[in-house]
Amino acid sequence: METNKLKEILATLTVAEKVGQLAQVTPDFFGKSGEITGPMAQWSMSEEQLYQIGSVLGTHRAEEVQKIQTEYLAHSRHKIPLLFMADVIHGYETIFPIPLAMAASFDPLLIEKTAAAAATEAAAEGIHVTFSPMADYVKDPRWGRVLESNGEDPRLSKVLTESYVKGYQGTDLAKNPQHVAACVKHFIGYGAAEGGRDYNTVDISDVEMYQNYLPAFQGAIDQDVKLVMTSFNSLRGIPVTGNKELVTTVLRQHLDFDGVLISDWAAVAELINHRVAADRKEAAAKAFKATVDIDMMTDSYLQELAKIVAEEDALAQLDEAVWRVLKLKNDLGLFENPYRGMDTKVDTTSLKQLSYQAAIQSAVLLKNEQVLPLKTTENILLVGSKAVTKDVLGAWSWIGDPEKATSLADGMSTRFPQLEVLTVEEASDRSLISTALQKADKVVIAVGETSEEAGEAASRADLHLTDSEKELIEVIHQQKAAAILVTFSGRPLILTDVADKVAAIITAWFLGTETGSALAALLSGAENFSGHLPMSFPRSVGQLPYSYQEMSTGRPQTQANQQEKYTSRYLDEENGPLYPFGHGLSYSEFSFSQLTLSQQQLTEGQTLTVQVTVTNTSQTAGFVLPQLYFQDEVTEVIRPKLELLKWQQVFLAAGEATTITFEIAATELAYVHADLHRRTDPGRFRLFLAKSARELVAESVFEIV
Ligand code: NOJ
Repeated sequence: METNKLKEILATLTVAEKVGQLAQVTPDFFGKSGEITGPMAQWSMSEEQLYQIGSVLGTHRAEEVQKIQTEYLAHSRHKIPLLFMADVIHGYETIFPIPLAMAASFDPLLIEKTAAAAATEAAAEGIHVTFSPMADYVKDPRWGRVLESNGEDPRLSKVLTESYVKGYQGTDLAKNPQHVAACVKHFIGYGAAEGGRDYNTVDISDVEMYQNYLPAFQGAIDQDVKLVMTSFNSLRGIPVTGNKELVTTVLRQHLDFDGVLISDWAAVAELINHRVAADRKEAAAKAFKATVDIDMMTDSYLQELAKIVAEEDALAQLDEAVWRVLKLKNDLGLFENPYRGMDTKVDTTSLKQLSYQAAIQSAVLLKNEQVLPLKTTENILLVGSKAVTKDVLGAWSWIGDPEKATSLADGMSTRFPQLEVLTVEEASDRSLISTALQKADKVVIAVGETSEEAGEAASRADLHLTDSEKELIEVIHQQKAAAILVTFSGRPLILTDVADKVAAIITAWFLGTETGSALAALLSGAENFSGHLPMSFPRSVGQLPYSYQEMSTGRPQTQANQQEKYTSRYLDEENGPLYPFGHGLSYSEFSFSQLTLSQQQLTEGQTLTVQVTVTNTSQTAGFVLPQLYFQDEVTEVIRPKLELLKWQQVFLAAGEATTITFEIAATELAYVHADLHRRTDPGRFRLFLAKSARELVAESVFEIV
């Protein structure tokens, strides 16, 4: 629809109708007539108000959307179609690996494809907006929502966030109804919840926010993301959802976001719980002034906004908010077709293949003392709480059917004819497990979290395996069996106490619909591992929050001063993680040449070309991930000792060598200064080629003049 026409629609709306556009309900508000019950009664919402509502959250199927939209359009005076939103985080019906797992692929294109595929399935069921991607900067795996993140590196997270937005939204939402609008979340600081406890207070500096927290949001906004969601948390004393100063100066001005801002679930009314608002009216006023356009799932706006607008003479601001919502509906082509997307054809077979591919690229091989790959002729014993379970989809898979997923046992039984599986109960019987172990050449121990133990409201203070899981590992270790530990989790776990008791470790996260078939193919060597950790696996909970981007301190611990007391270290633990960021093994072996630089000096406007030759020195074809890190030697504000700058996935046949090139613009070495401006300083820089944030294999220096 032409902009003028849309403006005319806005001009015809009453204040009540405008307020309605900014309110959201669940599907169960519809389909009732006469007596008002259920959620509508609790909200003391009139039927007239219902048919002024702007959006609906949480429908499942196209028929439901069709019915609600039809009923709504029949009753509403203005006939503005409803907007349907849902959490489509890692797939809709076909479930892909959790976002943290997919970040292990370091593959922006794969993520774009999975997001586009998820959009197709969701659009076919009438969904217009997904509450994804989550761009939160994270470094505390106690926080269950690291599951939805892209891991601890802000640069990787920015690139992957952009891919999600591209994949979901495509190029033109009105012309391509198989795409959906994306909502990047949670603005801002949610990942820094104190103690890793969900919904807890946050207090981070401006430099930290601009340096690490904003870039991924900037990336999404640069890709024209249609919505942003405010976070639940307070930041430096003020809950974000009611923080006018923060939202207007940082999100609206600095990041230049002019799309729809939606609160998180009930976050407007929760300003009362934060004790920064006495009642719903004050809460609504604060959120509205912070330019929060849609009040997700409370009736604060619905009941209070008209009064606030009248008292504060804020009609112009109300119009701006409603305009953003109408514009989104128009961008989606809803005025032309309120049933957009529902005739989308979904090719389930190719989606399943993509899910399998994503799972292959997401699993990470952390350790392998020559026990993997397993031979299909071997006697394999499979044990552990995650051996037969179909609880492999992960937290945000509310439409995905676990029964359609392949468990590890399902997948392994098709590849290993001699497979024996013991249930948890059977494995707890010492004599049964002893007999099974005597027969087995190798044993696969599958353990880890349930989907309830990771995700939202799933913070944990202890990240070790459970006592019974550790006991099982111990029993197997005592019998000297060659053990392969497969861990399922939505976060890095602490494996320090078990890592030495097994010969191999695989991080299987929650890999989605094709979990079992992908893991079995990897275990057998039919597929090769290529995943790398997007988040460090700490040695101990006491190290948290932790990121490989450790800042320089005045008293650094070095190789030479290990025994000195007054250095930055723990008395009872190493400083570093058990498995570092970027770590991931493969069945192939690779060697790297030194770095060749196009020049030793460059000016701010120039680009440096860096080359390295990588050789597959093994008999197995595979993917290698050369990682380029840098260090700015002297800076105005403290900077990490090591920062990821570039990476490339390269496939090499057995024995093959190739030279790869990284182009580095001087502007990519910029950091946020004390005045909050991001710029590159002249001076010396060190470049490191690495297999992980710990395994540096080549080094070089250059200067910016
Ligand atoms: C609360 C979560 O924090 C948010 O990420 C999600 O999108 C909303 N609920 C909607 O379900």
